[in-house]
Amino acid sequence: MIRVQGVSKTYGKKGVRAVDNLNFDIADGKITGFIGPNGAGKTTTLKIITGILEPDEGSVQIDGIDMAKDPIGAKRRFGFVADSPDSFLRLKGIEYLQFCASIYGVDTAAQQEKIRSLAERFDMQNALQDRLSTYSHGMRQKIMVMGALIHDPNVWILDEPLTGLDPKAAFELKEMMREHAASGKSVFFSTHVLEVAEKLCDQVIIIDHGRVIFLGTLDMLRAQFPNEESLEAIFLELIKHA
Ligand SMILES: Nc1ncnc2c1ncn2[C@@H]1O[C@H](COP(=O)(O)OP(=O)(O)OP(=O)(O)O)[C@@H](O)[C@H]1O
Ligand SMILES: [Mg+2]
Repeated sequence: MIRVQGVSKTYGKKGVRAVDNLNFDIADGKITGFIGPNGAGKTTTLKIITGILEPDEGSVQIDGIDMAKDPIGAKRRFGFVADSPDSFLRLKGIEYLQFCASIYGVDTAAQQEKIRSLAERFDMQNALQDRLSTYSHGMRQKIMVMGALIHDPNVWILDEPLTGLDPKAAFELKEMMREHAASGKSVFFSTHVLEVAEKLCDQVIIIDHGRVIFLGTLDMLRAQFPNEESLEAIFLELIKHA
């Protein structure tokens, strides 16, 4: 589970308050979608949750471990897919995955089996000997997802993970997210695709101007806007008043 308490962050001295007093829990056994307009603060929030950015105020706990007090302990608990897959380009696919596995202390046998099964699911068996610099955008996205999941983390945190994936890979990742939540663990991911949120998420958090403007199930959201026909119409209505 993820617990976010009183988290705020301003970039620069006089910059924008990118996130403003966020408070929420991401429960185990559920898929939680993170939705909001461009610049709403989703990536900033995910970077704070994963310890990449320090909040100005507030705290984050991953499975009860405080990020500020025990960053390594907290970081062991999750796998994170960042919004841009263009890193580690000089490494071959297999080298990148072995590097990720070694950071998390995954033993060799488990590592080989995990790489095999992930490569099969994402149709990447024939690309593992090639450098990431030669990969297409979608292939880079796939290898980042594979690297994030190699240590079988309890908590999955994914920033727009489906962007650029082909239908088969997107299907596989959504299936994996469902399986992961069904096994009692947590998935928290941002998306702009409301249909994905509608089909996949048990609950959503909607953020605008760095503040949570809705948290709950989509049925609860629909009940608040009985006159709107689609989730898209509800979303537009909600951010208009935020
Ligand atoms: N490195 C940075 N320096 C200064 N301002 C930043 C930085 N990163 C983000 N911001 C600002 O913080 C706010 C939130 O940005 P953030 O990237 O968290 O939004 P987002 O919800 O992820 O948007 P998108 O849907 O476009 O990915 C925006 O106003 C943005 O301009
Ligand atoms: Mg973002």
